[in-house]
Amino acid sequence: MVVIRSVRYSDLDQLTEIEKICFSLPWTKNSFEKELNNDLAYYQCAEEDGIIMGHMGMWRILDECHITNVAVLPKYRKMGIATSLINKMIEICKCSEIRAMTLEVRESNFQAINLYNKFGFVAAGKRPGYYLEPVEDAIIMWKKI
Ligand SMILES: CC(C)(COP(=O)(O)OP(=O)(O)OC[C@H]1O[C@@H](n2cnc3c(N)ncnc32)[C@H](O)[C@@H]1OP(=O)(O)O)[C@@H](O)C(=O)NCCC(=O)NCCS
Repeated sequence: MVVIRSVRYSDLDQLTEIEKICFSLPWTKNSFEKELNNDLAYYQCAEEDGIIMGHMGMWRILDECHITNVAVLPKYRKMGIATSLINKMIEICKCSEIRAMTLEVRESNFQAINLYNKFGFVAAGKRPGYYLEPVEDAIIMWKKI
């Protein structure tokens, strides 16, 4: 059974591998270590029998949450893992009086844009050249809670 739970220090090697597979500029183990010591950061993962299938993070800034990353290993995609992670984060927001969630996404990343649209995130602007390797604009999306 897939469990959505908080990320622990012992998960970080798996998270780092997922990042390398999913992103051209992956987060390092060191960056995740810092996140686990950040009171304003929330990190959740999807785990089954000790295997981490995907993870998601966000930072609380006043009454908003900024999504930092969402990643699912290719072999576990299209199974609802990202959906479960986002649902968990929305639940956390609702319990913490968060009024809105925001994120940036590469404008070519239609899989992720579809995912966020499904949750009612709305495009609200662009950050030109925000991403590197390759350089690409970011679409800024917001969702009211
Ligand atoms: C984007 C990503 C997180 C989706 O994870 P996932 O677990 O496969 O997503 P889900 O199975 O929960 O899918 C939910 C919705 O996302 C959209 N979606 C997911 N994969 C898609 C695909 N290959 N094509 C089109 N839409 C897709 C669909 O709207 C889907 O709903 P549906 O199943 O009713 O069609 C995953 O593809 C991934 O890790 N990509 C690489 C990292 C990345 O781009 N992260 C986002 C950075 S902003």
